[in-house]
Amino acid sequence: MIYVNHNSKQLEFHLCNQQVSYIFCVDSQIKILEHLYYGKKITHQADFYHLVEREIRPSNNLNFGSQLTSLEHIKQEIPVYGTTDFRNGSIEIIYPDGDAISHFEYVSYRIIKGKPRIDGLPHSFSNSKSETLEIKLKDKYSSLELLLYYCIFDEYSIITRWMKIVNPSNTIYKIEKALSFSLDFPERDFEWIHLSGAWAREAQLERDQVVTGVQTIESTRGASSHLHQPFMGLVRRETTEHSGEVYGFSLVYSGSFIGQIEVDSYDVVRVQLGIQPKTFSWVLNGHESFTTPEVIMCYSDNGLNGMSQQYHDFLCKHLIRQVQPFSQRPILINSWEASYFNFDEQSLYSLAQQSKEVGIDLFVLDDGWFASRNSDNGSLGCWCENKAKFPNGLKHFADSIHHLGMKFGIWIEPEMISRDVPLFRQHPDWIIGHPCKNISHGRNQYVLDFANPDVVEEIFIQLKNLLDSVPIDYIKWDMNRYISEAYSQYLSRESQGEVFHRYILGVYNLLEKILDYQEDLLIETCAGGGARFDLGMLYYSPQIWASDNTDAIERLKIQYGLSLVYPLSTIGSHVSAVPNHQVGRITSLQTRNDVALFGTFGYELNLMQLSRQDKQIISKQIIEAKERRKLIGEGRFYRLKSPFEFNETAWMVISPDEKEALIGYYQILGKANPPYKRLKLVGLIENEFYTIDGKGHYSGDELMNIGILLNGNYIDREQEFWNREVQGDFYSKLFYLKKL
Ligand code: GLA
Repeated sequence: MIYVNHNSKQLEFHLCNQQVSYIFCVDSQIKILEHLYYGKKITHQADFYHLVEREIRPSNNLNFGSQLTSLEHIKQEIPVYGTTDFRNGSIEIIYPDGDAISHFEYVSYRIIKGKPRIDGLPHSFSNSKSETLEIKLKDKYSSLELLLYYCIFDEYSIITRWMKIVNPSNTIYKIEKALSFSLDFPERDFEWIHLSGAWAREAQLERDQVVTGVQTIESTRGASSHLHQPFMGLVRRETTEHSGEVYGFSLVYSGSFIGQIEVDSYDVVRVQLGIQPKTFSWVLNGHESFTTPEVIMCYSDNGLNGMSQQYHDFLCKHLIRQVQPFSQRPILINSWEASYFNFDEQSLYSLAQQSKEVGIDLFVLDDGWFASRNSDNGSLGCWCENKAKFPNGLKHFADSIHHLGMKFGIWIEPEMISRDVPLFRQHPDWIIGHPCKNISHGRNQYVLDFANPDVVEEIFIQLKNLLDSVPIDYIKWDMNRYISEAYSQYLSRESQGEVFHRYILGVYNLLEKILDYQEDLLIETCAGGGARFDLGMLYYSPQIWASDNTDAIERLKIQYGLSLVYPLSTIGSHVSAVPNHQVGRITSLQTRNDVALFGTFGYELNLMQLSRQDKQIISKQIIEAKERRKLIGEGRFYRLKSPFEFNETAWMVISPDEKEALIGYYQILGKANPPYKRLKLVGLIENEFYTIDGKGHYSGDELMNIGILLNGNYIDREQEFWNREVQGDFYSKLFYLKKL
C-alpha cells in the first residue's frame, strides 16, 4: 500500500504493508527527496514532519544565509557527490562543460498498480498484489529527468528499487555512475554480512562490525564473480539466525558491481549497491534513457532465517521464470567428473544406461562434445558435434538417450571463443580486447564481444541450429573466464566505458532469445562454478551450478552461505566420486547424498566404477530424493547450526502446512566419548505430535525446546557397547518428521 500525505508542511510518501514501512518526503526548500525511515511497519499518520531533523552545522550549505541546507547532513534517497554532500553519491553525470554538478528536484509522482517491466534487464515480476511508486525528478541545471521506482509487494517484507535517467533534449551527457539505490540509516549500531570467496570456495559467510569509513564488496571482472556475491546485509549485534533485525540488499545483476556501506562522522550509515562505476561510463545521447538494475531489499525482524525465507519465497514466485515446478525437475547425471574430456559415444551410452537403471531422469553431456574439443585448448565458438566422438551424429546420441526414457542435456559456453575455430578467423574483431595491444587469454580462450549485437545474433543462430537439429531438454550454460582488457571494436571511442554493461545486456538478450525460441528449455547457468550465482542469472535459469567443489564437507559452507538469499531449488548440487576430485576427501555415499539433497540434487560420477552395492544404495537414495522433492522445493528452510561456527552443521526444511519436515545433521570431525547432543528444531506446531522416521510420538514443543537426540540412546542396550554406532568424521544423518 502506498500512502501519499499532502500536508501543509511537506509532501510525504509512505510505502507500507503488514510488515515494513518505507517513508520519505520532499524537502520544501531545496526540493530533494529526504529519507525518513525504513524498517518494521509503522502505523500510518497524516503527518511525518516530526521525523525531519536538522542540526545547525556551519558546513557547506546550498542556500546562502542558511545553515540547514547542507546535503551532508540530510538523509537522502538519491544523493549526488559534488555539491554539499562529500560522501559517495549514487549518481554522477558529466555535463557538456565538463562539470559533474547536479541537483535533482522533485516534480511529480505516479502510483502504478502492479509492477512495470524493466526492459532489457532481468527483474522481479508481480501480480496485482503490488504497487509501484514512480517519482519524477528534474535536474535544476539541465532538462535531464530521473525516474525513481519503488515497488512494494503485499505479502512480503520486500521493497524493490531501480532508477531511470531520461534525456529529453538533444544534448549529449555522460553518466559516470548510476547505482540502483542509496539508503541512509540514522544510526550505526549494525554489523554487516556478506558472502565472499574464490573459485571452489564460494559464498563464505562473513560478519563484521561496521566501522567509520567505507566498506566495500565488488567485482571489476565482468561477472558478479567468485569473490563477492552481489548481496550484503545489515544486522544488529544481537541478531541470530532466529531473531533480531536484518536488512538484506540483493542486486538483480550479473556483471561488475559495487556494494558499499559508508559510515560518516555523524553515525549515519549509507548503503548502496549497483553497477560498478570503476568500469562503467555511458554516453546518454539525446532522447535516450538509461535504466539501472533492480535491487531487492528485504527487511526481517526474525533473524537471518526470516530474511532468507522471505527471499526464497519471493524469488521462486516473483523472479525466477520456472519452466516447471521443482518437484518435476529432473534428477540429472553430469558427465564432467565422470569422464572429463575422455569419452566416446559408447562409454557415454553405458553411463546413461546405468543412470537410467538407478532412476536418474536427465543425462547431461558436459564439455568435450563439439568441434575437435578434447581438452580445454580450443573449439569454443563452433557449436557442432565432434565427429570423432559422435560418428553417427549428436542427434543419434540424443535420440538414444530419449529411447532410454531419459531427457538429454548439453553443456555450452556460448560467450567464449577459441583461436582455432573458423569464427575467430572470419571475425578477429569480434573478441573483447584492443587489436593493437595484448589480449590475455583465460583457460586458453577469449571473450566474444557481446556488446556487439551481430555477435549475439551469430551465436543465437548457431544455438538455434543446434536446438533445431538435436532434441535438447536442458542446457548447462557456462562462462569460464573473466573479462580483462575491456575494449570493443564495435563501440566508438567515447563509448568504451559501456563495454562491461553492454556485454551483460548482450548475454541477457541471448538468454531471452533462446528461451523465447524454446520455452520449455531448462537452463542451468554456471561460471566456473559459482562466479555468476546471482539474481540476474536466476531470472533465466532456475538452477545454477553452485561450485566446482563437489566435496560434501566443503559444500556445507558453500550451500549454507548461498541459502542466505537463494532457495534450495536453485542451488546446483551433485553427489560425486571419492576420493573427491577437488580435495581428495573420502566421505560416505550417505553424507554425499545428505548434502546434495538440500539443493537441486544430481550425480557427477562414473557409475560404472561403483560396486553393485553402492548402486543399490543410490537407487534407494533417488527414490527418497524424489519423495522429498516437493518438500525441499516448496518448504520453509531454516539454518540451525552453522559450519562457519561449529564442528557440526544442521538445517531443516518444513512443508508450508507444517505437516512434514526433513532435517539434515552433519558432523565434520568425530569426537571420542562425545557429550550428550540434542538438536532443537524450529517452526513446528507446538501442540501437534510428530513421528521421527515413522517412529515415536513427539510433540512439536518438545522437539523445539528439548530437541531430538543426536547420539544413540543405550538404555536397555548396554550389551551393544562393543558394536555401537560411532559417529566418525564426516558423519551425517537425516531425520524425517511427519505430523500424526
Ligand atoms: C567449468 C564448470 C564445470 C565443467 C567445466 C567444463 O569449470 O564449472 O562444471 O562444466 O567447466 O569445462
